[in-house]
Amino acid sequence: MTFYVTTPIYYVNDVPHIGHAYTTIACDIFSRFYKLKGEDTFFLTGTDEHGQKVEKASNLKNKDTQVFVDEMSKNFRDLIPFLGCEIDDFIRTTENRHKKAAQYLWNKLKDNNQIYLSNYEGWYSIRDEAFYSENELEKVNDKFIAPSGSPVEWVKEESFFFKLSSWQDKLIEFYEENQDSILPKSRYNEVLSFIKSGLKDLSISRTTFKWGIKVPGEDNHVMYVWIDALCNYLTAINYPDTDNHYFKNYWPAIHVVGKDILRFHAVYWPAFLMAADIQPPKKIFAHGWWTNEGQKISKSLGNIINPYDIIDQYGLDQIRFFLFREVPFGNDGDFSKDAIALRVNADLSNNFGNLIQRISSFVVNNSDSIISKPNTFDKNDEKLLKLFKESFESYFDHMKSFQIDRALKNIFAYLSEVNAYVDTQAPWSLKKTNPERMRDVLYIVTIITIRCSILLYPVIPSSINNILKIYNLSIKDFNFENINNFFPKTLNLNKPSPIFPRIEL
Ligand code: MSP
Repeated sequence: MTFYVTTPIYYVNDVPHIGHAYTTIACDIFSRFYKLKGEDTFFLTGTDEHGQKVEKASNLKNKDTQVFVDEMSKNFRDLIPFLGCEIDDFIRTTENRHKKAAQYLWNKLKDNNQIYLSNYEGWYSIRDEAFYSENELEKVNDKFIAPSGSPVEWVKEESFFFKLSSWQDKLIEFYEENQDSILPKSRYNEVLSFIKSGLKDLSISRTTFKWGIKVPGEDNHVMYVWIDALCNYLTAINYPDTDNHYFKNYWPAIHVVGKDILRFHAVYWPAFLMAADIQPPKKIFAHGWWTNEGQKISKSLGNIINPYDIIDQYGLDQIRFFLFREVPFGNDGDFSKDAIALRVNADLSNNFGNLIQRISSFVVNNSDSIISKPNTFDKNDEKLLKLFKESFESYFDHMKSFQIDRALKNIFAYLSEVNAYVDTQAPWSLKKTNPERMRDVLYIVTIITIRCSILLYPVIPSSINNILKIYNLSIKDFNFENINNFFPKTLNLNKPSPIFPRIEL
C-alpha cells in the first residue's frame, strides 16, 4: 500500500506562521505513522507563488517578483526541519516542471472541451484569491466583504471558463459513493449541500495582471492561481507522465487542508481532475483554525504566532504534542500559554517522562543497567500486556481515521495504568524482599514504555529518538507489525537525562 499526503502550498506573500506549521506537522505525523505501518509514503509540501496577492506583496516591497518569491519561498522551506518534519519533495509553482504540468493540464481540459472563452463580471477577493457571488457577501459600512472578512473588488474582464456546472451530478455521485472521502463528516455534509445548491462555471484565467502561468497559446491570459496551485499535487509525481513510478504508485493523494480552502479542494479540484480523465483525490481532511488566547489571529491585530518563537520558548515536541493532543483534529483550537504548560506538564513531564526517568535510573542503579526477559509473567503482567494490545489497536484505528488527539489520549490513559502498576508492584520494596521479581517488573515496565514510545514517535519524533538511545535502540528496529512481539532477551540501558522538563506556569 502507498500513502501520498500533501499540505496546501503556502502563499509567499508573507512569512510562515503557526497556521502553516500546523498543517505541515499534521502531514508529518501521518507520514511517519504510515511509514511505521510499513507503507510506501510520499509527503509533499511547497509554495504557491503566483497570483495577484503575491504580485501585490512584491510590489509593496519594490522588489522584482521572482527575486521576492525566491526569498519568501526559502522561509517556508527552512521552517520544515525546524518543525521536525521530514518531507519527500518541496514544490514551487514558479518551477519549470510545474509550469509544464499546469499547461499540459490546461490543454487536456481544452481538448476535452471543458473550457470556453467569455467575460467575467463580478466580485473578486485578492486576499482569498477567490470569486464570490453577491449573495455570499455581507455589506459592512456600505462595502461588501467576503465570508472570510476579506475585501472584494468588482472585476470585469475577458476570461476562460471551466464548465464546472456540467460536473455537478458527477460530483454528487462520486461523494455519495465515497462517503469517507471528506473528513470530518460535518465538512462532507457541507460540501455535498454546496454542490447540490448548484454549481456555476468557473472563471479560470485573468487578463489584468501578468504574474501567473501563461494560458497556452493566449498571450494576454494567465491562469487563475487556483488551477495553477492545485495542479502542484500532480506536478510533484511527474504529471503529465502518468506511466512513471510516482504517478502510478501514489495517485490519488490525501490532501490535508484548512477549512477555509475546502471548497477549492473538494469541489473545483475533483471536477478539474475528472474533466482531465484523472481520478479524484482519495481523501480530503479539513482542519480547523487556531486563535491566539481567544482572538482571531491576524496581522492587523499584531497577534501572529511565529513558529520559531514558540518552539524556542517551549521546545519542538512540546509544541507538536500540544497542537495535536489539545484539540481534536478538525476542530478550531485556542493557543494559550497556560494550556501548553498544563498539557505538557501533565502528560509529557509527569505521566510519561517521569515513568521513563524513574524506571530507567532504577535499572541503572539497582540492576547493573540490564533488564532480561523473565521466564514467566504473572497475571498482573499479563493484564498490562493485554491492555497494551487493546490500547494499540484503538490508537491504530484512531490514527487511521485522522483522530490524532484520541489516539494520543488512549496512550496516555494506558501510561497512567502503567504508572499504577509500578506503584502497586513497588520495585523499590521488592529490591529487599524479592529481587528476582523486581527484575521482572523492571523488564515489563521498560518494554511497555518502549512500545508506547514507538506509538508516540509520529507526534514527538526527536524526543523518542533520544529516549530510544537510553535503551540502545533505534526507531529503525520497529514497525507496527512487530510491536506486540517486542520481547527482547536483554537490554543494556544508559543513564537517562531528564526528557521533558516541567514548564513553569
Ligand atoms: N495557497 C493557498 C493553498 C493552495 S493549495 C493548492 C493557501 N495558502 S495559505 O498560505 O493562505 O494557507 C495555507 C494553509 O494555512 C491553509 O490550509 C489555511 O487553512 C492554513 N491556515 C492559515 N491560518 C490558519 C490558522 N490561524 N489556523 C490554522 N490554519 C490556518 O490558502
